[in-house]
Amino acid sequence: MTSAWDFGIRKELDMVEQKLHEMVKSQEQVLTDASLHVIDAGGKRLRPTVTILSYKALGGTESQKIVDIATGFELIHSATLVHDDINDGGLTRRGKETVFKKYGLHDAVVAGDFLFVKAFELGGTFDKNVVETVANACAKLAEGEVLQNRFRHRKDLTIDDYIRIMERKTAYPIRAGAMVGAYLANASADTVESMGSYGLDLGIAFQIIDDVLDFTGDQKKTGKQIGVDLREGHLTLPSLLAMKDSPSTGKAIMNLISDDEPKQASIDECVELVLKSGAIQKAKGMAEYYGMEALGHLGCLQKNEYSQSLRDLVKKVLERDS
Ligand code: IPE
Ligand code: IPE
Ligand code: MG
Ligand code: MG
Repeated sequence: MTSAWDFGIRKELDMVEQKLHEMVKSQEQVLTDASLHVIDAGGKRLRPTVTILSYKALGGTESQKIVDIATGFELIHSATLVHDDINDGGLTRRGKETVFKKYGLHDAVVAGDFLFVKAFELGGTFDKNVVETVANACAKLAEGEVLQNRFRHRKDLTIDDYIRIMERKTAYPIRAGAMVGAYLANASADTVESMGSYGLDLGIAFQIIDDVLDFTGDQKKTGKQIGVDLREGHLTLPSLLAMKDSPSTGKAIMNLISDDEPKQASIDECVELVLKSGAIQKAKGMAEYYGMEALGHLGCLQKNEYSQSLRDLVKKVLERDS
Protein backbone atom coordinates (compact mmCIF):
# COMPACT_ATOMS: atom_id res chain seq x y z
CA MET A 1 0.00 0.00 0.00
CA THR A 2 1.23 3.48 -0.83
CA SER A 3 0.48 6.38 1.45
CA ALA A 4 -0.20 10.06 0.85
CA TRP A 5 2.75 12.36 0.26
CA ASP A 6 3.06 15.13 2.78
CA PHE A 7 3.92 18.56 1.44
CA GLY A 8 2.89 20.78 4.32
CA ILE A 9 -0.83 20.35 3.72
CA ARG A 10 -1.58 17.53 6.17
CA LYS A 11 -4.63 19.34 7.55
CA GLU A 12 -6.25 19.75 4.13
CA LEU A 13 -5.39 16.18 3.10
CA ASP A 14 -7.03 14.89 6.28
CA MET A 15 -10.11 16.93 5.35
CA VAL A 16 -10.02 15.30 1.89
CA GLU A 17 -10.05 11.86 3.53
CA GLN A 18 -13.05 12.83 5.61
CA LYS A 19 -14.88 14.23 2.59
CA LEU A 20 -14.13 11.11 0.52
CA HIS A 21 -15.78 8.98 3.21
CA GLU A 22 -18.76 11.30 3.39
CA MET A 23 -19.26 11.26 -0.38
CA VAL A 24 -19.31 7.51 -0.94
CA LYS A 25 -22.22 6.78 1.41
CA SER A 26 -24.99 5.07 -0.51
CA GLN A 27 -28.21 3.21 0.19
CA GLU A 28 -26.68 0.35 -1.77
CA GLN A 29 -24.04 -1.06 0.53
CA VAL A 30 -22.01 -2.58 -2.29
CA LEU A 31 -21.36 0.87 -3.79
CA THR A 32 -20.05 2.17 -0.48
CA ASP A 33 -18.03 -0.99 0.16
CA ALA A 34 -16.46 -1.08 -3.30
CA SER A 35 -15.64 2.64 -3.11
CA LEU A 36 -14.10 2.32 0.33
CA HIS A 37 -12.18 -0.72 -0.84
CA VAL A 38 -10.19 1.47 -3.21
CA ILE A 39 -10.16 4.67 -1.12
CA ASP A 40 -9.08 3.07 2.15
CA ALA A 41 -6.31 1.14 0.42
CA GLY A 42 -4.34 4.41 0.35
CA GLY A 43 -2.72 6.02 -2.66
CA LYS A 44 -0.45 9.00 -3.02
CA ARG A 45 -3.28 11.55 -3.32
CA LEU A 46 -1.31 13.36 -6.02
CA ARG A 47 -4.31 15.06 -7.63
CA PRO A 48 -5.63 16.65 -4.40
CA THR A 49 -2.06 17.57 -3.46
CA VAL A 50 -1.50 19.47 -6.73
CA THR A 51 -4.89 21.18 -6.47
CA ILE A 52 -4.44 22.29 -2.87
CA LEU A 53 -0.82 23.39 -3.31
CA SER A 54 -1.67 25.43 -6.40
CA TYR A 55 -4.44 27.18 -4.45
CA LYS A 56 -2.35 27.85 -1.37
CA ALA A 57 0.75 28.88 -3.33
CA LEU A 58 -1.39 31.62 -4.86
CA GLY A 59 -2.74 32.82 -1.55
CA GLY A 60 -6.02 30.89 -1.29
CA THR A 61 -7.24 30.62 2.30
CA GLU A 62 -10.64 28.90 2.23
CA SER A 63 -9.69 25.35 3.13
CA GLN A 64 -13.14 23.78 2.82
CA LYS A 65 -13.68 25.18 -0.67
CA ILE A 66 -10.43 23.77 -2.07
CA VAL A 67 -10.85 20.51 -0.14
CA ASP A 68 -14.23 19.95 -1.82
CA ILE A 69 -12.88 20.25 -5.35
CA ALA A 70 -9.66 18.40 -4.45
CA THR A 71 -11.87 15.55 -3.20
CA GLY A 72 -13.70 15.68 -6.53
CA PHE A 73 -10.40 15.13 -8.36
CA GLU A 74 -9.53 12.16 -6.15
CA LEU A 75 -13.02 10.67 -6.72
CA ILE A 76 -12.48 10.97 -10.49
CA HIS A 77 -9.09 9.33 -10.11
CA SER A 78 -10.58 6.51 -8.00
CA ALA A 79 -13.24 5.94 -10.66
CA THR A 80 -10.61 5.69 -13.40
CA LEU A 81 -8.59 3.22 -11.34
CA VAL A 82 -11.63 0.96 -10.91
CA HIS A 83 -12.39 1.10 -14.63
CA ASP A 84 -8.74 0.94 -15.70
CA ASP A 85 -8.23 -2.30 -13.79
CA ILE A 86 -11.16 -3.81 -15.66
CA ASN A 87 -9.64 -2.72 -18.99
CA ASP A 88 -6.14 -3.89 -18.08
CA GLY A 89 -7.16 -7.05 -16.23
CA GLY A 90 -5.29 -5.66 -13.21
CA LEU A 91 -5.56 -8.00 -10.23
CA THR A 92 -3.81 -5.92 -7.56
CA ARG A 93 -4.16 -2.24 -6.76
CA ARG A 94 -2.76 -0.38 -3.78
CA GLY A 95 -1.66 -3.72 -2.39
CA LYS A 96 -5.16 -5.19 -2.41
CA GLU A 97 -7.35 -7.16 -4.75
CA THR A 98 -8.83 -4.89 -7.41
CA VAL A 99 -12.49 -3.94 -7.16
CA PHE A 100 -13.58 -6.00 -10.14
CA LYS A 101 -11.73 -9.03 -8.79
CA LYS A 102 -13.41 -8.73 -5.41
CA TYR A 103 -16.89 -7.52 -6.38
CA GLY A 104 -17.23 -8.80 -9.95
CA LEU A 105 -17.42 -6.95 -13.24
CA HIS A 106 -20.96 -5.68 -12.91
CA ASP A 107 -20.58 -4.03 -9.52
CA ALA A 108 -17.15 -2.67 -10.46
CA VAL A 109 -18.46 -0.90 -13.56
CA VAL A 110 -21.30 0.61 -11.56
CA ALA A 111 -19.03 1.54 -8.63
CA GLY A 112 -16.73 3.39 -11.06
CA ASP A 113 -19.71 5.28 -12.46
CA PHE A 114 -20.88 6.04 -8.92
CA LEU A 115 -17.48 7.52 -8.04
CA PHE A 116 -17.57 9.70 -11.17
CA VAL A 117 -21.05 10.95 -10.35
CA LYS A 118 -20.06 11.73 -6.78
CA ALA A 119 -17.18 13.81 -8.13
CA PHE A 120 -19.63 15.81 -10.22
CA GLU A 121 -21.90 16.32 -7.25
CA LEU A 122 -19.00 18.22 -5.70
CA GLY A 123 -17.71 19.83 -8.89
CA GLY A 124 -21.19 21.02 -9.86
CA THR A 125 -21.31 23.36 -6.87
CA PHE A 126 -18.59 25.50 -8.47
CA ASP A 127 -18.90 28.04 -11.29
CA LYS A 128 -19.10 27.27 -15.02
CA ASN A 129 -15.38 27.74 -15.56
CA VAL A 130 -14.48 25.07 -12.98
CA VAL A 131 -17.17 22.68 -14.23
CA GLU A 132 -15.92 23.06 -17.82
CA THR A 133 -12.28 22.54 -16.87
CA VAL A 134 -13.10 19.37 -14.94
CA ALA A 135 -15.49 18.03 -17.58
CA ASN A 136 -12.94 18.67 -20.35
CA ALA A 137 -10.29 16.79 -18.42
CA CYS A 138 -12.66 13.83 -17.97
CA ALA A 139 -13.47 13.85 -21.68
CA LYS A 140 -9.73 13.87 -22.47
CA LEU A 141 -9.28 10.97 -20.11
CA ALA A 142 -11.87 8.94 -21.98
CA GLU A 143 -10.25 9.91 -25.29
CA GLY A 144 -6.86 8.82 -23.96
CA GLU A 145 -8.24 5.42 -23.01
CA VAL A 146 -9.78 4.99 -26.48
CA LEU A 147 -6.57 6.08 -28.18
CA GLN A 148 -4.50 3.70 -26.06
CA ASN A 149 -6.83 0.85 -26.90
CA ARG A 150 -6.61 1.65 -30.61
CA PHE A 151 -2.84 1.06 -30.43
CA ARG A 152 -3.17 -2.15 -28.42
CA HIS A 153 -1.27 -5.08 -29.98
CA ARG A 154 0.23 -2.68 -32.52
CA LYS A 155 3.91 -2.03 -33.12
CA ASP A 156 3.55 1.25 -35.02
CA LEU A 157 3.04 3.48 -31.97
CA THR A 158 5.33 6.51 -32.24
CA ILE A 159 6.71 8.53 -29.36
CA ASP A 160 4.36 11.34 -30.38
CA ASP A 161 1.37 8.97 -30.16
CA TYR A 162 2.61 7.80 -26.79
CA ILE A 163 2.80 11.39 -25.54
CA ARG A 164 -0.70 12.12 -26.85
CA ILE A 165 -2.04 9.12 -24.92
CA MET A 166 -0.27 10.09 -21.69
CA GLU A 167 -1.40 13.68 -21.92
CA ARG A 168 -4.98 12.64 -22.20
CA LYS A 169 -5.29 9.71 -19.85
CA THR A 170 -3.10 11.09 -17.06
CA ALA A 171 -1.79 14.62 -17.49
CA TYR A 172 -4.98 16.53 -18.35
CA PRO A 173 -6.70 15.71 -15.05
CA ILE A 174 -3.57 16.84 -13.15
CA ARG A 175 -3.45 19.98 -15.32
CA ALA A 176 -7.10 20.62 -14.44
CA GLY A 177 -6.36 20.32 -10.72
CA ALA A 178 -3.53 22.84 -10.94
CA MET A 179 -5.67 25.25 -12.99
CA VAL A 180 -8.72 25.02 -10.76
CA GLY A 181 -6.55 25.59 -7.66
CA ALA A 182 -5.09 28.74 -9.24
CA TYR A 183 -8.45 29.96 -10.53
CA LEU A 184 -10.16 29.56 -7.16
CA ALA A 185 -7.32 31.54 -5.57
CA ASN A 186 -8.31 34.38 -7.95
CA ALA A 187 -5.09 34.18 -9.95
CA SER A 188 -4.86 36.00 -13.31
CA ALA A 189 -5.75 34.12 -16.50
CA ASP A 190 -2.03 33.93 -17.41
CA THR A 191 -1.15 32.41 -14.07
CA VAL A 192 -3.99 29.88 -14.36
CA GLU A 193 -2.56 28.87 -17.76
CA SER A 194 0.99 28.61 -16.41
CA MET A 195 -0.19 26.43 -13.54
CA GLY A 196 -2.02 24.29 -16.09
CA SER A 197 1.21 23.87 -18.05
CA TYR A 198 2.96 22.90 -14.82
CA GLY A 199 0.29 20.25 -14.18
CA LEU A 200 0.47 18.93 -17.72
CA ASP A 201 4.26 18.51 -17.71
CA LEU A 202 4.22 17.09 -14.19
CA GLY A 203 1.54 14.63 -15.32
CA ILE A 204 3.58 13.49 -18.31
CA ALA A 205 6.66 12.99 -16.12
CA PHE A 206 4.47 11.11 -13.65
CA GLN A 207 3.12 8.71 -16.29
CA ILE A 208 6.59 8.08 -17.79
CA ILE A 209 7.77 7.04 -14.33
CA ASP A 210 4.66 4.87 -13.94
CA ASP A 211 5.61 3.16 -17.19
CA VAL A 212 9.20 2.76 -16.00
CA LEU A 213 7.94 1.25 -12.72
CA ASP A 214 5.96 -1.27 -14.76
CA PHE A 215 9.42 -2.69 -15.60
CA THR A 216 11.51 -1.86 -12.55
CA GLY A 217 9.00 -1.57 -9.70
CA ASP A 218 8.72 -3.61 -6.54
CA GLN A 219 5.15 -4.80 -6.19
CA LYS A 220 5.35 -4.40 -2.42
CA LYS A 221 5.97 -0.69 -2.93
CA THR A 222 3.83 0.09 -5.98
CA GLY A 223 0.98 -2.08 -4.74
CA LYS A 224 0.36 -3.37 -8.28
CA GLN A 225 1.75 -6.06 -10.54
CA ILE A 226 4.61 -5.34 -12.92
CA GLY A 227 4.91 -6.30 -16.60
CA VAL A 228 1.22 -5.48 -17.10
CA ASP A 229 1.74 -3.10 -20.03
CA LEU A 230 3.53 -5.65 -22.23
CA ARG A 231 1.18 -8.42 -21.14
CA GLU A 232 -1.77 -6.28 -22.21
CA GLY A 233 -0.16 -5.50 -25.57
CA HIS A 234 0.78 -1.88 -24.78
CA LEU A 235 4.06 -0.32 -25.86
CA THR A 236 5.26 2.44 -23.54
CA LEU A 237 8.38 4.59 -23.55
CA PRO A 238 10.83 1.97 -22.15
CA SER A 239 9.75 -0.73 -24.63
CA LEU A 240 9.57 1.78 -27.51
CA LEU A 241 13.12 2.94 -26.86
CA ALA A 242 14.44 -0.61 -26.42
CA MET A 243 12.86 -1.66 -29.73
CA LYS A 244 14.43 1.28 -31.55
CA ASP A 245 17.91 0.27 -30.40
CA SER A 246 17.91 -3.41 -31.28
CA PRO A 247 16.12 -5.26 -34.11
CA SER A 248 16.17 -8.55 -32.19
CA THR A 249 14.63 -6.94 -29.10
CA GLY A 250 12.15 -5.26 -31.43
CA LYS A 251 11.12 -8.60 -32.82
CA ALA A 252 10.74 -10.24 -29.41
CA ILE A 253 8.60 -7.37 -28.11
CA MET A 254 6.53 -7.29 -31.29
CA ASN A 255 5.77 -11.00 -30.96
CA LEU A 256 4.84 -10.54 -27.35
CA ILE A 257 2.48 -7.62 -27.80
CA SER A 258 0.75 -9.29 -30.75
CA ASP A 259 -0.11 -12.25 -28.55
CA ASP A 260 -3.52 -12.12 -26.85
CA GLU A 261 -2.44 -14.47 -24.10
CA PRO A 262 1.35 -14.34 -23.82
CA LYS A 263 3.23 -16.81 -21.64
CA GLN A 264 4.77 -15.46 -18.46
CA ALA A 265 8.20 -16.66 -19.68
CA SER A 266 7.92 -14.43 -22.79
CA ILE A 267 6.89 -11.45 -20.66
CA ASP A 268 9.83 -12.05 -18.30
CA GLU A 269 12.19 -12.36 -21.25
CA CYS A 270 11.07 -9.06 -22.80
CA VAL A 271 11.16 -7.25 -19.45
CA GLU A 272 14.74 -8.48 -19.08
CA LEU A 273 15.63 -7.25 -22.61
CA VAL A 274 14.23 -3.81 -21.84
CA LEU A 275 16.07 -3.66 -18.50
CA LYS A 276 19.37 -4.53 -20.18
CA SER A 277 18.89 -2.14 -23.09
CA GLY A 278 19.54 1.19 -21.39
CA ALA A 279 15.98 2.28 -22.26
CA ILE A 280 15.04 2.74 -18.62
CA GLN A 281 17.75 5.39 -18.15
CA LYS A 282 16.67 7.10 -21.37
CA ALA A 283 13.01 7.08 -20.34
CA LYS A 284 13.94 8.55 -16.96
CA GLY A 285 15.90 11.21 -18.82
CA MET A 286 12.79 12.11 -20.76
CA ALA A 287 10.77 12.27 -17.52
CA GLU A 288 13.43 14.63 -16.14
CA TYR A 289 13.03 16.82 -19.20
CA TYR A 290 9.30 17.15 -18.51
CA GLY A 291 10.07 17.73 -14.84
CA MET A 292 12.35 20.64 -15.79
CA GLU A 293 9.65 22.02 -18.07
CA ALA A 294 7.16 21.80 -15.20
CA LEU A 295 9.51 23.76 -12.94
CA GLY A 296 9.93 26.36 -15.68
CA HIS A 297 6.23 27.22 -15.45
CA LEU A 298 6.42 28.12 -11.77
CA GLY A 299 8.11 31.46 -12.42
CA CYS A 300 4.70 33.09 -11.93
CA LEU A 301 4.67 32.17 -8.23
CA GLN A 302 5.99 34.14 -5.31
CA LYS A 303 8.29 32.33 -2.94
CA ASN A 304 6.42 30.66 -0.10
CA GLU A 305 6.31 27.21 1.49
CA TYR A 306 3.61 26.04 -0.94
CA SER A 307 5.37 27.16 -4.11
CA GLN A 308 8.45 25.38 -2.74
CA SER A 309 6.30 22.27 -2.21
CA LEU A 310 5.19 22.41 -5.87
CA ARG A 311 8.89 22.35 -6.78
CA ASP A 312 9.66 19.53 -4.35
CA LEU A 313 6.74 17.59 -5.80
CA VAL A 314 8.49 17.46 -9.18
CA LYS A 315 11.54 15.88 -7.58
CA LYS A 316 9.36 13.41 -5.69
CA VAL A 317 7.53 12.40 -8.86
CA LEU A 318 10.84 11.75 -10.62
CA GLU A 319 12.38 9.82 -7.74
CA ARG A 320 9.35 7.86 -6.65
CA ASP A 321 9.34 4.09 -6.32
CA SER A 322 5.68 3.76 -5.34
C1 IPE B 1 -2.08 5.35 -11.10
O1 IPE B 1 -2.07 6.57 -10.42
C2 IPE B 1 -2.64 5.57 -12.47
C3 IPE B 1 -1.80 6.45 -13.29
C4 IPE B 1 -2.27 7.50 -13.86
C5 IPE B 1 -0.41 6.14 -13.51
P1 IPE B 1 -1.28 6.79 -9.08
O2 IPE B 1 0.10 6.24 -9.19
O3 IPE B 1 -1.42 8.22 -8.68
O4 IPE B 1 -2.07 5.87 -8.06
P2 IPE B 1 -2.33 6.03 -6.50
O5 IPE B 1 -3.49 6.99 -6.37
O6 IPE B 1 -1.10 6.55 -5.83
O7 IPE B 1 -2.71 4.65 -6.06
C1 IPE C 1 -3.37 4.74 -16.02
O1 IPE C 1 -2.42 4.16 -16.81
C2 IPE C 1 -4.34 5.56 -16.71
C3 IPE C 1 -5.53 5.92 -15.93
C4 IPE C 1 -6.24 6.89 -16.33
C5 IPE C 1 -5.93 5.17 -14.71
P1 IPE C 1 -1.94 2.74 -16.36
O2 IPE C 1 -2.82 1.67 -16.86
O3 IPE C 1 -0.49 2.63 -16.65
O4 IPE C 1 -2.11 2.84 -14.78
P2 IPE C 1 -1.76 1.68 -13.78
O5 IPE C 1 -0.32 1.32 -14.03
O6 IPE C 1 -2.70 0.55 -14.04
O7 IPE C 1 -1.94 2.31 -12.42
MG1 MG D 1 -3.65 0.02 -15.76
MG1 MG E 1 0.91 1.69 -15.43
